[in-house]
Amino acid sequence: MSSKGKESYGERFQLAGKTAIVTGGLGLLGRRFCAGLAEFGARVVVADLDGDGVSRFAQELEARYGTACIGIRCDVTQPAFVNRMVDQAAAQFGSIDILLNNAASKSEDLAQFFAPFEAYSLEQWRKVMSVNVDGMFLAAQAVGKHMLKQNQGGSIIQTSSIYGLFGPDERIYEGSCYLGMAINTPAVYSASKAAVVGLTAHLAARWAKYGIRVNTLTPGGVESGQNDTFVRSYANRVPMGRMGHPDELVGAMLFLASDASSYVTGHNLYVDGGLHAW
Ligand SMILES: NC(=O)c1ccc[n+]([C@@H]2O[C@H](COP(=O)([O-])OP(=O)(O)OC[C@H]3O[C@@H](n4cnc5c(N)ncnc54)[C@H](O)[C@@H]3O)[C@@H](O)[C@H]2O)c1
Repeated sequence: MSSKGKESYGERFQLAGKTAIVTGGLGLLGRRFCAGLAEFGARVVVADLDGDGVSRFAQELEARYGTACIGIRCDVTQPAFVNRMVDQAAAQFGSIDILLNNAASKSEDLAQFFAPFEAYSLEQWRKVMSVNVDGMFLAAQAVGKHMLKQNQGGSIIQTSSIYGLFGPDERIYEGSCYLGMAINTPAVYSASKAAVVGLTAHLAARWAKYGIRVNTLTPGGVESGQNDTFVRSYANRVPMGRMGHPDELVGAMLFLASDASSYVTGHNLYVDGGLHAW
């Protein structure tokens, strides 16, 4: 996976002939990631819970970008689903070159998800961990095994969060509202996203000699329909003075996915308007 032989720097970002799997591909960021990968020429496997949704979205990507895309229903907490998804992707496209390990859960029950730490149930904790950590482990394991067998290297990108590294500033949640309810960042989310950074470091060190690069992409807060009070309070904390836009994650992801980052592994790339800097 070195970029030797690539004629121009721009060409190093190109992904034609490569296959990328995106877990959580129907989400706010997942859809943008899939579109960015397809625009740069990759064949995209959209993996998410909604079978009809992934097929429809894959067709939209194909129509728009002219590259082969498929949707595969996959619950990343279930080894059988994950293994089947990887086998199907490999059977369809021949190789798997990129994994964007991106699925995460807020769970179906937002009241449980946002419950105060002192009252947090073990059941809810495990539900979130099963997607955010177990799911990431299973996808990295299945794709990593496949990449080792292919022996052509690869790039694995795992989505963490600024809250995996820093505790939340509780003050920004005063008067906040998202999907009709007051929000916070639950401890389980922070703990799960911190685990992503550790998993990345381990796999980067383990697989470097096989040309498989593993990096973390760490978004800061992205605007997604939070109320004005929250957006203002959050923006006040950020050196750049605003929340991110979902499209602003795509360039960093493409850098890590492509040969443009051929000597980068084990890195954690923050896209957070500078929040981690102070
Ligand atoms: N949006 C933000 O502000 C933000 C900030 C920091 C980090 N992140 C991280 O970025 C990633 C993408 O976030 P997002 O905003 O697009 O989230 P999202 O909630 O919009 O999307 C998550 C996707 O994961 C899917 N998913 C959930 N459980 C699954 C399972 N068991 N199997 C397969 N898919 C499953 C969901 O169906 C959904 O499509 C996540 O890892 C998130 O933690 C997001």
